[in-house]
Amino acid sequence: MCNSNEAPVRLTRRPAASPVDEMDRLVDMSSGRMSREIFWDRGVYEQELDRIFARCWLFIAHESQIPKPGDYLSTYMGEDNVLVVRQKDGSIRAFLNTCPHRGNKLCFSEVGNTRQFICNYHGWSFAIDGELKGMYASEAFEASGMDKSAHGLHPVAKIDSYKGLVFATFDPEAPSLAEYLGDMRYYLDAIFDMDGQGVEFIGGCVKSIVKCNWKFAAENFVGDALHAGWTHDSGARAMVGGPVAELHKAPGESYQVNFNGHGYEFNQDIVGNCASLGDKELVKYLYKLQPEVAERHDEFRSRLIGAISSCTIFPNTSFLPGQNTFRTWQPRGPDEIELHTWTFVNKSAPQEIKDRWRKGTMITFNPAGVFEMDDGENWEYSTRTNAGYVTRQQDLYLGLGMATRLQDSDLPGNVFRGQINEANQRAFYQRWHDLMKAGRWSEVPQRDEPTLKETA
Ligand code: FES
Ligand SMILES: [Fe+2]
Repeated sequence: MCNSNEAPVRLTRRPAASPVDEMDRLVDMSSGRMSREIFWDRGVYEQELDRIFARCWLFIAHESQIPKPGDYLSTYMGEDNVLVVRQKDGSIRAFLNTCPHRGNKLCFSEVGNTRQFICNYHGWSFAIDGELKGMYASEAFEASGMDKSAHGLHPVAKIDSYKGLVFATFDPEAPSLAEYLGDMRYYLDAIFDMDGQGVEFIGGCVKSIVKCNWKFAAENFVGDALHAGWTHDSGARAMVGGPVAELHKAPGESYQVNFNGHGYEFNQDIVGNCASLGDKELVKYLYKLQPEVAERHDEFRSRLIGAISSCTIFPNTSFLPGQNTFRTWQPRGPDEIELHTWTFVNKSAPQEIKDRWRKGTMITFNPAGVFEMDDGENWEYSTRTNAGYVTRQQDLYLGLGMATRLQDSDLPGNVFRGQINEANQRAFYQRWHDLMKAGRWSEVPQRDEPTLKETA
């Protein structure tokens, strides 16, 4: 019996999960070894949905995708479909894309502009702020004492942005976004705030299915420079018309840095990634911009703007400076991802440069692109092969660069010498382990001391 004066009773918040209590056995980063189970086990995956994807800050949009009031897009947080909507006051809100009546999918369009969302099933309509406004046969609902104000769309617990990148979390206990990103902001600034005008996402979202565990993709971008000179060698030769640099012999200093499981590996060649798109105009553009970035930030970061480098923001968001592909690895079970990719460019770049970047990204990091196909095949076979009955009982090795930590570096984050390293992958899996083991945010060990102030 519904009493309109009382708040509706919440039946359940979390599923009755039976946690996998063996994280110490599955992942031991002090020795650089881990079990193959984490790539195919359904119980591990269900726990990831609860403790990683329903808990962490997840990338949901770039502000440039929804500039005007009423602009919206639909995306995913874990396996949950969410609507991200620009409000009349310019703020951004996000809700589960499901009607609170019977749970029907509310909005079927992936992007658009609207004044309201109306459910196909029984006609409940919602304002862009999520409030339930009306419905078919509303008198009958009113007669039964329904309180409309208690049946709006389910919002995310927190939403915030950094340099135009919008993140949300389902967990009200999550730390602030600034604390979550921590020292990684120092490096993000070099890419998403080169000249004070920020970036924009152009050309829409390209989606594809890859039959791999999401962690293979995320850990590849967090720190696997190692594979680039081998896996992508033939593709890179095709793009640049000659051999690529042998990364492990590249002159100059290179690093891996990580913080809270996020990781960035880079050298300082300024344009190495960009050059692999095979368009000299883009390389010229970055060289011209470099002094301005040096003045705005510092000389060191100005050398990263298109360098051979990659980054993952834990858990499932990655990008490549210079190649300008930005992507999320959306989990669809332990052995499949929906890959969402965008091209990002500096807002201030000439239109011709933006077009060149969009085309360059399309022929490299796209379902038909030369580099995407290289990676996808490796991740699919790694996922599938790890599930073999005897195979699954053999550990994997992540010990490259175990003794390369630089204790006296002035750079923010945990800094390691050499981008040919597995330091960032170890940090990624350590964070994964810590989150999977902890029942709530307050139990997650704080391993990394921030250098940057929270409000930086
Ligand atoms: S399920 Fe949406 S109105 Fe009934
Ligand atoms: Fe790759």
